[in-house]
Amino acid sequence: MNTHQIEVLVVGAGGAGLMAGLYASKTAKTAVISKLYPTRSHTGTAQGGIGAALASQEEDHPEWHTYDTVKGSDYLGDQDAIEFMCEEAVQAIYELEHMGLPFDRTPDGKISQRPFGGHTNNVTGKPVRRACHTADRTGHMILQTLYQQCLKNNVTFYDEFQVVDLIMAGGKAAGVVAVELATGELHVFHAKAVIFATGGHGRIWEITSNAYAFTGDGPAITMRHGLPLEDMEFFQFHPTGIYKLGILITEGVRGEGGILINGKGERFMEKYAPNVKDLASRDVISRAIYLEIRDGNGVNGQNYVYLDVRPEQVNKFAALDGRKNLDGTPLAVTGEQILAKLPDIVDFCRVYLGVDPITQPMPIQPTAHYAMGGIPTNKYGEAIADEKNTIVPGLYAAGEVACVSVHGANRLGTNSLLDLVVFGKHAGLRAAEFAKKADLQPLPADPAAPVRAQFDRIRKADGKENAFDIAVAMKKVMFDDMGIFRSGKGMENALKVVRGLQARFKHVSVTDTGAIFNMEMMNVWELGNLLDLAEVTTVSALARTESRGGHSREDYPDRDDKNWLKHTMAHVDEKGRIELKYKPVVMTKYEPKVRTY
Ligand code: FUM
Repeated sequence: MNTHQIEVLVVGAGGAGLMAGLYASKTAKTAVISKLYPTRSHTGTAQGGIGAALASQEEDHPEWHTYDTVKGSDYLGDQDAIEFMCEEAVQAIYELEHMGLPFDRTPDGKISQRPFGGHTNNVTGKPVRRACHTADRTGHMILQTLYQQCLKNNVTFYDEFQVVDLIMAGGKAAGVVAVELATGELHVFHAKAVIFATGGHGRIWEITSNAYAFTGDGPAITMRHGLPLEDMEFFQFHPTGIYKLGILITEGVRGEGGILINGKGERFMEKYAPNVKDLASRDVISRAIYLEIRDGNGVNGQNYVYLDVRPEQVNKFAALDGRKNLDGTPLAVTGEQILAKLPDIVDFCRVYLGVDPITQPMPIQPTAHYAMGGIPTNKYGEAIADEKNTIVPGLYAAGEVACVSVHGANRLGTNSLLDLVVFGKHAGLRAAEFAKKADLQPLPADPAAPVRAQFDRIRKADGKENAFDIAVAMKKVMFDDMGIFRSGKGMENALKVVRGLQARFKHVSVTDTGAIFNMEMMNVWELGNLLDLAEVTTVSALARTESRGGHSREDYPDRDDKNWLKHTMAHVDEKGRIELKYKPVVMTKYEPKVRTY
């Protein structure tokens, strides 16, 4: 057995993992394990910006950012954690800038900011420029910057090692078991503190903006160790994915003046969000698109509408809206300016669709984008074991895998990059502090035994079931019945189908039984994770008899604060039975109100 000893071990090398690794490495011996090469992590696909009330171009305040985030969360976000994140945001941006992140600049050299959905001037209710950006490749730049900083700080990287189990000893985290993909060998990483930063699980859905790697490995693993998952019913659909492919088209397009148009040529967001229109929060816009398509207003009767950023359209609607540049002149853009601000979007559409956004509208549909739920943590990234917020010693989570909860029932755009920078840093600091005082926990006699048994079962299965068929069926039913709109009947069907697929999954066999880069085997293991998370998501959603944020029920269309202003905590026992418990939302000064945009 290959065994390694580390003080702080980070699982995942996206923005949260790298930020955690960087900060832990300032005082503790730190390693980052990733199933990918670090700069291929999904953070690299984040496009439009990172939110912070810098006020570099117009008035803004962390308190406005806080209120917008509370409101955007449909009042399910914990307000103390949201205040913390929005206060920390400004310093976090300057810290990234000082690390060398090449933000776009204003003519006078300040960090450039653009409007994004749900971010407002709290006095006028109008959109405010809060998203700091590097063209439309902000996540890519964050990832590169943090990776370089980690290398400079001597963080050890184990690239293409896939973590498949957590080792717990005496109720404390003691390390992980990982497969070295190049050899198939198992490695035990014995650690004083473990930070999960493994990202989301959007591959449960048919149309998604999520990378193939987003298979929920972190939450599936912790759940199997009896730890709860929080608010799994809340999953965000981003309004603008490339039709059929799901690839993200940044909200920054609408921030730069792009508008949504239905098959009748109408700018339909005027109906659904008369104040901020195309810059309403994502849940509101995704539902509007869905309703337009359902009412037969898709383009050419198909399941898509247009996102239009052609300069003549932007300029026409900017004039109608009275949108102005900061110097008071009417907002007017040229094709060259669109290309400079949104180069990747233009490129994606040209390559994948043969559509040129400078001269043609883009066909889009909502795409499964972001998990608001996940491993419960406090604002220092410490994992939580129960409804009383008992800390699991030595275990941390940060980024999309975690539920702090700052996003509640619906996340605002740009708050995910902010979340991973702020909470990645604090998880790293806390874990290093813990590791400095803790001893390594004694390991069980054969820590890899449960994993070996799991993989042997897959390798030796002689069933006729095919993993690909099971994955396709799961994605379809989750998209149809656990998507933007839900109903009791639909969710019961989804649960029945998913449970049937879990039963079939036991009979999946693999054709490749070798050791070297056996991705077929790993994909089967990942499918098991997705199925388990699909089940927990559906069970949590069925129980919540209200509509809130990303959980929109046709049979319970209203938000019900009296009964449901609370977080779901789903516990799974060793027989796979799911029990739902609840804990209160932390309120500070924002009383729930009906949301209007
Ligand atoms: O639209 C976007 O650029 C996505 C950003 C986000 O999810 O925060």
